[in-house]
Amino acid sequence: MLNCKLVVLGAGSVGKSAIAIQFVNEKFVEKYDPTIEDLYRKVIEINGNYYMLEIMDTAGQETFLVMRDLYIRNGQGFILVYSIASKSTYFELEGIKEQICRIKNADTDKIPMIVLGNKCDLPDKDRQVKSSEGDALVKKWGGDIDFMETSAKSNINISSAFEQIVQQIKQK
Ligand code: GTP
Ligand code: MG
Repeated sequence: MLNCKLVVLGAGSVGKSAIAIQFVNEKFVEKYDPTIEDLYRKVIEINGNYYMLEIMDTAGQETFLVMRDLYIRNGQGFILVYSIASKSTYFELEGIKEQICRIKNADTDKIPMIVLGNKCDLPDKDRQVKSSEGDALVKKWGGDIDFMETSAKSNINISSAFEQIVQQIKQK
């Protein structure tokens, strides 16, 4: 069974933990409890192959950021999350992507990575980031990085996102 070490990164409160918990435990956490660090495990099957996913759910809040270098060093695949209701969380991904490339000493096309615009269940009036801006971001970064909008709350694209990143790890 192939082991996949995944790291979920992004600003505070974008829904990193909600995504991990929806995927692993199939429930939505309404209450906001800032993460320090949490590790989740789940075995999944894709096309008859089994994968042991180790999902490192990291802190978005600045007080806990010192550990980020270490998580990136140990990670094989990176799930970068912003909230469609917060433009600043979208802009924050640029720096995180650069940090990953620096630490892995590689370009984005060599690094398994996916960008998620989370909270897509929210009504239009709350939206600050258009879906096309998510597409434009990954296009600018090059490689074959995927972008999808997700909702941990409504369970939209959550398992697809994890399957996608596992496929990339297998290929790269
Ligand atoms: P840190 O651990 O501090 O970095 O935050 P986080 O990114 O892990 O955010 P968390 O998963 O704790 O979610 C923050 C808040 O957003 C919580 O109140 C969640 O219920 C809410 N939330 C998370 N995902 C969604 C979603 O898909 N839709 C909606 N509407 N709310 C969400
Ligand atoms: Mg969290």
